[in-house]
Amino acid sequence: MPEFNISVMPGDGIGPEIMEQALRVLEKIAKKYSHKFNYETVYIGGCSIDKFGKPITADTIATVLSTDALLFSAVGGEKWDNLPQNMRPEAGLLEIRKAISGYANIRPIKVFPAMETFSTLKAEVISGIDIVIVRELVSGIYFGEPRGVVKLPDGVRKGFNTMSYKDYEIERIAKVAFSFAQKRRKKITSIDKANVLDVSTLWRDVVSEVHKDYPDVALDFMYVDNAAMQLVRNPSQFDVILAGNIFGDILSDEASMITGSLGMLPSAAIGGNVGMFEPVHGSAPDIAGKAIANPVAQIVTTAMMLRYGLGLEAEANAIENAVDKTLEKGYRTPDIFKNGNKKVDTIQMGDAIIEEI
Ligand code: IPM
Ligand code: MN
Repeated sequence: MPEFNISVMPGDGIGPEIMEQALRVLEKIAKKYSHKFNYETVYIGGCSIDKFGKPITADTIATVLSTDALLFSAVGGEKWDNLPQNMRPEAGLLEIRKAISGYANIRPIKVFPAMETFSTLKAEVISGIDIVIVRELVSGIYFGEPRGVVKLPDGVRKGFNTMSYKDYEIERIAKVAFSFAQKRRKKITSIDKANVLDVSTLWRDVVSEVHKDYPDVALDFMYVDNAAMQLVRNPSQFDVILAGNIFGDILSDEASMITGSLGMLPSAAIGGNVGMFEPVHGSAPDIAGKAIANPVAQIVTTAMMLRYGLGLEAEANAIENAVDKTLEKGYRTPDIFKNGNKKVDTIQMGDAIIEEI
């Protein structure tokens, strides 16, 4: 029987509740396809701060690096909001991303067929949207040096970060984007701010060089401000969006609203030592512990883990199809509930999806 070792990070807020449902779904897959999944549950974020005094420990990182894939949920909450930047829950997330060095963050933006009327955009604008955002995840302004807040001799305080990319960092993420585009509609929109930023000039040059190896893919460049506008004006013009760390972060939140719920979208970080899989949404502390959180993003994230982390394509499809069918049947957690739907809680949503599998 094929065996896989999976690191599990339930994290904070709604994390543990939605992770529980994702693991139930995985166990259903294990049974149906005769696999064995072994789990290493480890701390990250606020719960790690409470237990070990920091958002992630060296032991945790070592454990993750020894497994086949990392399934992550969410971190953060008000309790830890006033800690210094490098002690906050988010710092743990950035540290594990860096340690794994999964530089390619794949964020598919798809409208679930049953939910076309849920978006704040008109149904005809979003119909059939199928976009993949390929976001650089381990460099750019998130990690660039120098950074900090200092007091200048004249008493003025200055805060600064550095948006920097080396050519090979741009090259490797561009290659991932082009190879995704080749398997799709063969179109890339590369995002930058080349009218202002030097780093964007290099970004454009390197992406153009990589393009020479993928002549069948059409490449466009777009300034990030224009892209933000085009995403709500006419999102179906996009196939693969290639972006650096912060531009990809911002555009993926925007793009998620095309689909109507941030609570539905998965992501994968690949190219590193271990694949890391996380929902796009956060820890939603305001609804934690009430059993009303939507587990769909965590469950489809688990499907992405099976596909890109463990090479189990049929199993991934089984989960995604079950989610589609469950939504078609009208099951909804409160965040996506409308009149006429069947309102369910976190666990019942898990039940309904497992039933479909
Ligand atoms: C995301 C999140 C993170 C990011 C935060 C929590 C550090 O917004 O995964 O998009 O900015 O990358
Ligand atoms: Mn984000």
